[in-house]
Amino acid sequence: MTGTMRLKIVLILCCISAISGNDIYNQAWYSKLDSSKQAHYDNLTDDITSFLNGGDDSHRHDEYRGFGPVLLRTSFHAAGTFDHKFNKGGINGGTLQHNKVLEKSGNACIDIATDVIKVFARRNKISFADTTAIAGALALKSMDFPRMDLISVKGGRFDLDASHAGGPSDLPNAQVNPLQKFTDEYGFSTAEFVALIGGAHSLGAAHAVCTCYAGSFSDRPLSWAGPDFFRDLVDEEWTWYTLTTFDDDTITFTIGSEPDWPTGRGKREIQ
Ligand code: HEM
Repeated sequence: MTGTMRLKIVLILCCISAISGNDIYNQAWYSKLDSSKQAHYDNLTDDITSFLNGGDDSHRHDEYRGFGPVLLRTSFHAAGTFDHKFNKGGINGGTLQHNKVLEKSGNACIDIATDVIKVFARRNKISFADTTAIAGALALKSMDFPRMDLISVKGGRFDLDASHAGGPSDLPNAQVNPLQKFTDEYGFSTAEFVALIGGAHSLGAAHAVCTCYAGSFSDRPLSWAGPDFFRDLVDEEWTWYTLTTFDDDTITFTIGSEPDWPTGRGKREIQ
């Protein structure tokens, strides 16, 4: 084979991989899979990529139309039960698919994403746990995350039945010192915690019907906007409000004084 032909083949293979999103996989792990297993993972990335590009909407009455943010949030909600000290919990086991876990208040609206993850997992014969991790990485990719070179997903996670649901650790909770949770249980530094929260919360929005918070986190909810989350917190003017949701998902804000915490209240940017 001539050098030019070899180059063409390499280029074609690179193109296929870029289109299908296979570049999110850890290549050392992926290259050891047999060809039929590789095909399952390839089809899964194609499926999720088409879905993300298809413009399906995760939340009605939202300021954006897309599924990337809720898939990313869901991969964190699966990973977030990991306990670093005991090496337990996390995405492996796929317990986020079970109602006992989804019903926890911190997981409000996560079922919107787990419903589609279950379909992709079943259709491509990949565990729910792997599919959740892969969906999170592809969501980041679809939202222009600039450091995809740092993402290297391995597969091989397995699913456990509902009797294992619960996990050793709950998600971080905004009311109970989340920084401590990230440092003690995940082993993060403060700088890593700040980068993760600020970066992730530049994407998507809060939804009154899910968490009683409302509004997009940045002006570009479907495109990674860097540190807009913190910039807005500091630069914008904010006021306390009381939020009321109605059966048809409409909401009203009543500007008021500082609330008792926690209630369906928060701070809102003054328009
Ligand atoms: C202390 C930790 C965290 C807390 C308390 C927290 C809290 C929240 C809350 C209340 C919402 C609004 C959900 C809604 O109303 O739909 C939200 C959304 C979101 N969170 Fe977090 N979060 C945390 C960490 C993270 C991390 C580590 C990630 C990703 C790596 C993440 C990704 C997201 C995304 C992408 C959304 C937007 C979802 C959408 O638009 O549907 N969060 N978060």
